[in-house]
Amino acid sequence: MTDKLRPLKIAGLGYCVPETVITNDDLTKLYETSDEWIYTRTGIKERRVVSGNETAIDLGLDAAQKALAKSGLKPEDIDCVISAASVPPQLYPTLACTLQDKLGIPNQVPAFDLTAACTGLIYALQVARGFIGAGIYKTILIVASDNNSKITNWEDRGTSILFGDGAGAMVVTEAEDGIDDILSIQISADGSIGQMIQTNMPGQCCPLVEQADEVGTGKIIMNGKDVYKFAVTTVPAYVEDCIKKSGLTSEEIDYLIPHQANQRIIESIQNRLKYTDDKVISNIKYYGNTSAASIPIALVEGVEQGKIKLGSTAVLCGFGAGMTWGAAVVRLRKGIC
Ligand code: COA
Repeated sequence: MTDKLRPLKIAGLGYCVPETVITNDDLTKLYETSDEWIYTRTGIKERRVVSGNETAIDLGLDAAQKALAKSGLKPEDIDCVISAASVPPQLYPTLACTLQDKLGIPNQVPAFDLTAACTGLIYALQVARGFIGAGIYKTILIVASDNNSKITNWEDRGTSILFGDGAGAMVVTEAEDGIDDILSIQISADGSIGQMIQTNMPGQCCPLVEQADEVGTGKIIMNGKDVYKFAVTTVPAYVEDCIKKSGLTSEEIDYLIPHQANQRIIESIQNRLKYTDDKVISNIKYYGNTSAASIPIALVEGVEQGKIKLGSTAVLCGFGAGMTWGAAVVRLRKGIC
């Protein structure tokens, strides 16, 4: 089946993080905690947050402009926009519609948001692969952007230590040279354990009817221990399986670029693959968990810092609320970021 798909080229990538830094020490002003406690359990030292009127729209716009510039393509070349945010700054108009307008992408081009929390980028890539593979659209802009700080309960020291804001974007297009940059990709979900991470939107029933027992707060509620167990038991074997399907061995893949949720979770995947530190891209120390944006941020920053050499291959993996998870083995061509 997949053999018949048209090949996909990853043409350009970009990322953006807000300027404002909140360190672990800053968090001690909000509740009793310490840099040592947070760093040893998560690997996080600081995170970036939006401030004032800044939102995930601004971050997504900047990341998308950089990805477009790197791809050498123009807004007019984009024939579909997919945005992935855990909780977009507004439900509608969607992030994708807003970015279509702000980027000057022609106004008949379809644009929609896809919600798969921290797995959003891998889900969007799979959807884009389907569209391009079937010849429905030729060039798709994927934007993963989140302002987690706006849905964080800043009184909850179990969750607010983890999350940060940021955006990543990817331009994918039909590969005219016939080389497919997706060697394997798979996405999964298990709604039966969805209560591990929840964000329930506020909202009352019509005043003329009985009211619900509980009203959502719009903030992240998480059972950290269960999420941790889920991640370390599910993701490493899943990544190994995705590698098997790519036709490569784990030794043949140059880099592991995982979702940045917790350094110990990253290490559990690294240990399974028996990778040395230089093959594993981690920047959680400086950004925390930026949801769907964390993989493209780690990828592009990894290239900028010389940790990733392009003309290589990487296994990407994500997991998060839903629960959702996914992995992809991809080719990273020269010049994409
Ligand atoms: N500072 C100091 N103490 C803290 C604290 C903080 N920021 N947060 C919690 N504690 C305390 C708790 O109150 C608890 O105290 P108690 O034993 O007296 O009740 C103790 O530390 C242990 O708390 P617990 O929640 O069991 O810690 P943990 O070892 O599970 O670590 C996480 C918490 C959140 C770091 C960890 O569970 C985790 O990273 N989970 C994965 C979450 C994740 O990745 N989510 C996103 C997925 S996309």
